[in-house]
Amino acid sequence: MAAFATPLMPVIRFVREGRDVECYPGENLREVALREGIQLYGLKGTLGNCGGCGQCITCFVEVPEGPSQVALSPRTTVEDQKLRRRSQGWRLACQALVNQSLLVITRPQVGLADREVLLAAAQTEPLPLGPTSWPVVGTQQEPAEDPAAAAAAEPAAAPTATTDEAS
Ligand code: FES
Repeated sequence: MAAFATPLMPVIRFVREGRDVECYPGENLREVALREGIQLYGLKGTLGNCGGCGQCITCFVEVPEGPSQVALSPRTTVEDQKLRRRSQGWRLACQALVNQSLLVITRPQVGLADREVLLAAAQTEPLPLGPTSWPVVGTQQEPAEDPAAAAAAEPAAAPTATTDEAS
């Protein structure tokens, strides 16, 4: 799995793709997946989808049982209506906001060979918890200043006037 630039960002572990992706807390799951080149849609959704309005019901994802199920924003009214006949772990990616790190199985309507093996492997490596709110600007510590670099950046002292020039 990948190393992360900052451990404070939530991580979405895409089980089918074997990829970990960082995002900002509160980001839309569909938008993160598309930005990262994750194939979110099956054939029907690839041919045409609603662009994230919660109307086409093609951006299915499955969130496996466990802590991942509380890592997203709660199901919306649209999801409650559109996913009535689907497993409780299914979500519409366009309706879900990522609050904490989690596991996601894209296109659960499409078979996944070795599903249990992949899922067990994904669950083996712990996920960072991730923050539950947007980072507050100005709260991060500035890196300590390097004295040698600061001295090099100082402008050279102005030449002092010699006694000949002064007269
Ligand atoms: S993109 Fe259409 S329901 Fe999510």
